[in-house]
Amino acid sequence: MNVGILGLGTLGRTLALGLREHGHVTTLGATTRTPREAPPELAHVQIFASNVELARWSDVLFLCVKPFQMESVLREIAPELREGLLLISNAASVRIEQLGKWAQWRLPIVRAMPNMPCRIGAGMTVLTAGSDVSDEELSLARSLFEVLGRVAIVEENLMDAATGLSACGPAYVYLIVEAMSEAGVKLGIPRKTATLLAAQALYGSAKLVLESNLHPAALKDEVTTPAGCTVDALTVLEEGRMRSTLLNAVVAAASRSAELSA
Ligand SMILES: NC(=O)c1ccc[n+]([C@@H]2O[C@H](COP(=O)([O-])OP(=O)(O)OC[C@H]3O[C@@H](n4cnc5c(N)ncnc54)[C@H](OP(=O)(O)O)[C@@H]3O)[C@@H](O)[C@H]2O)c1
Repeated sequence: MNVGILGLGTLGRTLALGLREHGHVTTLGATTRTPREAPPELAHVQIFASNVELARWSDVLFLCVKPFQMESVLREIAPELREGLLLISNAASVRIEQLGKWAQWRLPIVRAMPNMPCRIGAGMTVLTAGSDVSDEELSLARSLFEVLGRVAIVEENLMDAATGLSACGPAYVYLIVEAMSEAGVKLGIPRKTATLLAAQALYGSAKLVLESNLHPAALKDEVTTPAGCTVDALTVLEEGRMRSTLLNAVVAAASRSAELSA
């Protein structure tokens, strides 16, 4: 199977690296706006001179350009679109109906919203399928993203919410890791160790949520000894409105996602 990545930017590279490290895909091809050699870590990716050539070659084509670039890219490759080609759009905001109009063809189109940890096989991808997508095609899309992490399938009207929560989510987490590790430095822990402590606390806690199936509040209660130190920290976080701030941040990102293709 030939897998094409149109737009080898941050996300395109993430998919290319993830599929090499964790997948079974042997043939990867890609384009960028400015044709150039693949960087050494992407030596396994064949770089095509044009999007049209890439579309002709691909069995599955990941579209990884910005939402505002999607129309021109789809119009450009429209003459090469054919039965049997599965398009997977990773652009935030742009709806399947719109993509189909630009492609001028009733093609199977899946929308995907992956996130950065796909690079190391620990990603989260949310998928939604157009009405022309068969069960086999959705399974194929699912299997490609499953090698990069976990997959959830939702109705298309939830894709902006998924963007604000899980595609943007790593940025919120990096901010938390940075802040916690800075606190460690303030308390005298060497920076490298402080970052390890902060990142591993988040990693382990998230893993426990996923593996225990317990409500996060129940797990929080387990850490919070009566009259201990955790409850003092939680009090400070509640005073700083961390819970409602995070909630509002996700909602803000989802609202912005809905506007991106407007
Ligand atoms: N970054 C994320 O975490 C993330 C997560 C989920 C979804 N997404 C979605 O993924 C898409 C790409 O985001 P990104 O962060 O990867 O952006 P990015 O780093 O700017 O990458 C976009 C890539 O598209 C290429 N490109 C632009 N126009 C092109 C054209 N006409 N033909 C071929 N290649 C073209 C650019 O090439 P040049 O380098 O030559 O300009 C660049 O390599 C967006 O729609 C975004 O919503 C991103």
